[in-house]
Amino acid sequence: MSTSPTVVKRSPKQQPLRLHCPTGVGLEQVLAAELRRCGATSVVPGNRGVSFSGDLSTVYRANLWCRTAHRVLMEIATFPAGGREALYEGAKRVQWEDYISLSQTLAVDAVAGNSGLDHTQFISRVVKDAIVDRFREKRGRRPDVDPRNPTVRINAHIVSDLCTLSIDTSGERLHRRGYRPDFGTPAPLKETLAAGILLLSGYDGTQPLIDPMCGSGTLLVEAALIARNIAPGLLGRRFAFMGHLSFDRPLWLAHIDEAREQISPDAGEAISGADVDETAVRAASAAVQGAGVDDLVRLRRADAADLAGREGGILVANPPYGERLGELDKLAKTYTALGDALKRRCRGMTAHLLVGSKFLAGKIGLHPKSREVLWNGGIECRLLHYDLY
Ligand SMILES: C[S@@+](CC[C@H](N)C(=O)[O-])C[C@H]1O[C@@H](n2cnc3c(N)ncnc32)[C@H](O)[C@@H]1O
Repeated sequence: MSTSPTVVKRSPKQQPLRLHCPTGVGLEQVLAAELRRCGATSVVPGNRGVSFSGDLSTVYRANLWCRTAHRVLMEIATFPAGGREALYEGAKRVQWEDYISLSQTLAVDAVAGNSGLDHTQFISRVVKDAIVDRFREKRGRRPDVDPRNPTVRINAHIVSDLCTLSIDTSGERLHRRGYRPDFGTPAPLKETLAAGILLLSGYDGTQPLIDPMCGSGTLLVEAALIARNIAPGLLGRRFAFMGHLSFDRPLWLAHIDEAREQISPDAGEAISGADVDETAVRAASAAVQGAGVDDLVRLRRADAADLAGREGGILVANPPYGERLGELDKLAKTYTALGDALKRRCRGMTAHLLVGSKFLAGKIGLHPKSREVLWNGGIECRLLHYDLY
């Protein structure tokens, strides 16, 4: 027997839109504050994401401005989906003709947990079948599927037997700002995580900033973007919403113009980075140039043990974690040397270190005043905050 689930339908013309941005563990509050600045209302931080309301302007602003969002999802339907039939019927009731045309392509991603349906490939296939069957019945033809580069990517999220269908307005994940060429440097931070570390550390562009272990320079570039008030979405990437039926080009261009006007022309406080490895310094230099902030960021090859701080400044770093056996002992010396430099030459500063090993964190020899759990890829880390007297 086929069930008749209640479908809460939404269309882009209906206001307000219900929206959701996934982010990393620990960054929910920072992202919520960013979204409020984008005009979002009813902002509710959750676990690894923030739900909020808004209109198309909010969607464009969130994609353009949010430094810590992974993507911006526009929720279009919510319904109970305890089994295949309920999922298929619920997905088929959505007025997909409002969102996809026959000449466009689609793909369905799925996330599931704590539900009768938990096989994500199966969920994707059922939702995709429902969409194309509806088109066949209503229009006699169906849009094609393109799993890699679809015009419209749909996200099916099932938790506790409740399915939410969303349209992904971002496309490629937002951490891909487009400024970082691949130099093969080890363990670069995702741009969204780097921005989150800076915002959690209280960096607002008015303080001098140092990263003495800068690797490919992600923290430095994200700091320069904050200091200049450059929206990360201005760096030239494409967004999925540009290909959507609801795309309002004049509105988007108005947001681009507004963002350009808000760029601060001031040089701002100095941002400096160093790394012991010459290849890392070259990679950082390319990233800084790619983002157009090379006039603000100074780079040099140096050992963190020799760093020189600046009164009132902020030091951020993501020292190596030492995942392989035998590396920990060598790195213990590096962490101790960094701790000594912080104690001796960085008085009057604050330091913020993302560390992935409790053992190594102990080798710094300073007591953090606070800490947060953040995940870097698959590694559970701590962001340790120090006041240096
Ligand atoms: C985990 S990576 C930093 C990644 C960086 N945050 C990024 O986004 O690309 C750690 C960096 O510390 C550097 N490093 C290790 N020991 C160092 C030392 N004694 N002085 C300066 N840099 C060091 C490594 O060369 C490496 O580039």
